[in-house]
Amino acid sequence: MRVQVVIIGGGPSGLLLGQLLHNAGIDAVVLERKTREYVLGRIRAGVLERGLVKLMNDAGVADRLKQESLTHHGTVITRNDDFFDVSFSNFVDAPVTVYGQTELTRDLYDARESAGAVTLFNVSDVVITDLKGKAPTVTCKQGGEAITIHCDYVAGCDGFHGVSRQHIPESVRQEYEKVYPFGWLGVLSETPPVHEELIYASSDRGFALCSMRNASLARYYVQCDINDRVDNWTDQQFWDELKKRIPAAFADVLETGPSIEKSIAPLRSFVCEPMQWGRLFLCGDAAHIVPPTGAKGLNTAASDVHYLFEALKLRYKEDDETALNQYSAKALSRVWKVERFSWWMTSLLHRFPEHSAFDQKIQSAEIDFLKRSDAAQASMAINYVGLPY
Ligand code: APR
Ligand code: PHB
Repeated sequence: MRVQVVIIGGGPSGLLLGQLLHNAGIDAVVLERKTREYVLGRIRAGVLERGLVKLMNDAGVADRLKQESLTHHGTVITRNDDFFDVSFSNFVDAPVTVYGQTELTRDLYDARESAGAVTLFNVSDVVITDLKGKAPTVTCKQGGEAITIHCDYVAGCDGFHGVSRQHIPESVRQEYEKVYPFGWLGVLSETPPVHEELIYASSDRGFALCSMRNASLARYYVQCDINDRVDNWTDQQFWDELKKRIPAAFADVLETGPSIEKSIAPLRSFVCEPMQWGRLFLCGDAAHIVPPTGAKGLNTAASDVHYLFEALKLRYKEDDETALNQYSAKALSRVWKVERFSWWMTSLLHRFPEHSAFDQKIQSAEIDFLKRSDAAQASMAINYVGLPY
């Protein structure tokens, strides 16, 4: 098989890049380790920056998003029983869009299938060779059959646990990591969200988040111990703890119900430099991870895809590799600003086991400053709705 671009990974990064390339007449195949159903079974965040919404529009895959998504112009921040609203529209002319990542990925799969673009599922043993030449080769197996694909470029969109990043020599690769001393226990429930906007709650008992997928599907999280397990928590214990971490004004009206999904996720910050090696370009979780506090995982994958798509388009339409050669520096410039914001929101709102009484007073003072300062709220709003590409 020969294609112009091989995309390793059929998550949102790979699929969005694949759709943009297809629409631009650039031939790409997606190699996915799992099945479509498995990929769509993953529950992920659901806050989209304006840049990602535009990319979905540009890819021609935004119809359902436009019909079913919610538009949020602000968010609530709490400290124990006190709370205030940070109104994005007071500072920046852009809302955020609430639409589940699972639905966005489903829309991208549907579009890919409608376009007749090729996705190979259940592939294994992916190996990339000749990355420093002009014609990389990707080999893999599917159903026991060996497959060889010749291409011009490889997009590593295979997530944190993928193989692409490992193809950058260890002597070249610089990895930066911070593991947070807690996790998030998440629950999905078919109940109306407790509030029309998201609630980021900081309390003496720990962090909580009240989010949603739509008007009848709520998503909640509580900070939990790094070694905690889902079966340590009954639904009732989850609801009781959540109510203790949000202001009474919300706890008193919280509608509870059976969890239809319950899981624990660890929190880490991670960046791999560089994000390219020869003709391999890393996108999304393959190159970086953020703690979910700022809802930046999917949105930073989107900015990577934007930079790589524009660079590939320039290469194929104008025979100009300038942007491809600058991809890693361009992407990393925005990645690190997003890493900082995600670290800042996480540090501000969570209860750290090693924190002293002084540290907790500093957190309270910073939340109080955010409550009272337009400058502080403007900084949060500009970062939360999405830095420009
Ligand atoms: N070969 C082929 N596919 C692979 C391989 C491999 N060796 N390893 C992993 N994959 C697939 C995974 O099965 C997954 O479907 O690559 C895909 C990577 O998708 P994500 O992990 O979702 O990463 P990305 O597409 O960059 O999206 C980032 O997804 O995980 C969330 O929080 C993250 O919101 C962020 C977004
Ligand atoms: C979610 O809805 O799952 C969600 C929303 C905002 C976040 C993290 C997760 O910051």
